[in-house]
Amino acid sequence: MGYPKIVVTPPGPKAKAIVDRDHSIISPSFGRAYPLVIKSGDGCIITDVDGNEFIDMNAGLAVVSVGHRHPRVTESIKEQADRFIHYSYTDFYYENYVDLGEMLHDLVPGDFKKKFFYGNSGAEAVEAAIKLSRWHSKRPGILAYIGSFHGRTMGAVSLTASKPAQRRYFSPLVPGVEHIFYPYCYRCPFNLECPSCGYRCVSYIDDYLFHKYVPPEEVAMVMAEPIQGEGGYVVPPRGYFKELKKLCDEHGILLASDEIQSGVGRTGKWFAIEHFDVVPDIVCMAKGIAAGLPLGVTASRADLMDWDPGSHASTFGGNPVATAAAKAVIQIIKEEGLLENSESQGSYIKKRLTEMKDDHKMIGDVRGIGLMVGVELVKDKYTKEPAKQETNDVMMSCFRKGVAIVNCGVSTIRMMPPLTITRELIDRSLEIFEESLSEVEARA
Ligand SMILES: Cc1ncc(COP(=O)(O)O)c(C=O)c1O
Repeated sequence: MGYPKIVVTPPGPKAKAIVDRDHSIISPSFGRAYPLVIKSGDGCIITDVDGNEFIDMNAGLAVVSVGHRHPRVTESIKEQADRFIHYSYTDFYYENYVDLGEMLHDLVPGDFKKKFFYGNSGAEAVEAAIKLSRWHSKRPGILAYIGSFHGRTMGAVSLTASKPAQRRYFSPLVPGVEHIFYPYCYRCPFNLECPSCGYRCVSYIDDYLFHKYVPPEEVAMVMAEPIQGEGGYVVPPRGYFKELKKLCDEHGILLASDEIQSGVGRTGKWFAIEHFDVVPDIVCMAKGIAAGLPLGVTASRADLMDWDPGSHASTFGGNPVATAAAKAVIQIIKEEGLLENSESQGSYIKKRLTEMKDDHKMIGDVRGIGLMVGVELVKDKYTKEPAKQETNDVMMSCFRKGVAIVNCGVSTIRMMPPLTITRELIDRSLEIFEESLSEVEARA
């Protein structure tokens, strides 16, 4: 029998018992998707504590990009752990740290010299970008997007604007941040159509921010997700970032690409911003870079990293085991042709979902690049009223049937499996997705 294999409708008794223990001891601040309690993972399959085997269309939330427990990753982790596990890079040196920078140097976009800083998470990669852009430019301002997610530390959350719960009661946040509209064409904030809109979502920044209340010479950086992740897997039109970069260059503003979810091969290129023919000044990465070990990387043009010793550092950042795993991830992506797999399997998922559109009253929009695919569900294709509860119901039904997927934005289901996903597992996942969608539509 193929996958998935459900032996007891999840959550089974062992999963329920662990979830109950969690509720009495763990902070309730996590917003869990569903009670999936993992026991082990292998490639694109995860097994829960009750013995159910799921197809992992989440990749542990875009993290295990080369699949669970890739033998070369575990081997490199073990090999490094057998030598040494920690020696603060804040004060000393080891080779993995430098190796990884050299490997990434050739992959990060830009035909210029770059430098690298390592932290432990996506949020830390964003914090480093905020501090670096301010330090280098001596300007206080940051532009970020409505709908964006950049993490939950105080700096990162000040840029984040995808759900009120992420910011509620945490003010005062870091000052100097202004939010701008994301180019969300399916729900254009200006009610215009691309390209006849002339990229109003860029020109309004000049007209309404820079000419009214945000002096552009006080803006250090625009922080952008090249594809908005938590905000709904929103893909900007292909010309958007070129227009934005033109505006940034006019005012000496740095462009940072938050590739924490979209980077390291997920979209079929090393970095999603490459699809838009634009070279950013700063690139943030985490999630998929180290196959599940904590690592955040901030890359920038070398000339921007002119900050003083002591201005920024991290005890654990760039840990030798995490950087060993990251080196293995890069080699695996290259040697196993995972950029190509991401491109071809992702195009296939999009094609299949687009074909489903006519038969399903709730599929409003299908979008994505590579293995970062979103399907936005609506109650009515004309009014585009978001099908929020129904999206949750589809996700839960998939979970019960053995496909782990999660939603994002208001009513978008996202598919972000490991880059190693096979056609067979995709077909089975899409079958289960469609079955779940049909059941929910029949009730709606
Ligand atoms: C685009 C983006 N930036 C930043 C983050 C924050 O990463 P972390 O949870 O590792 O701090 C995330 C996490 O989902 C993300 O998707």
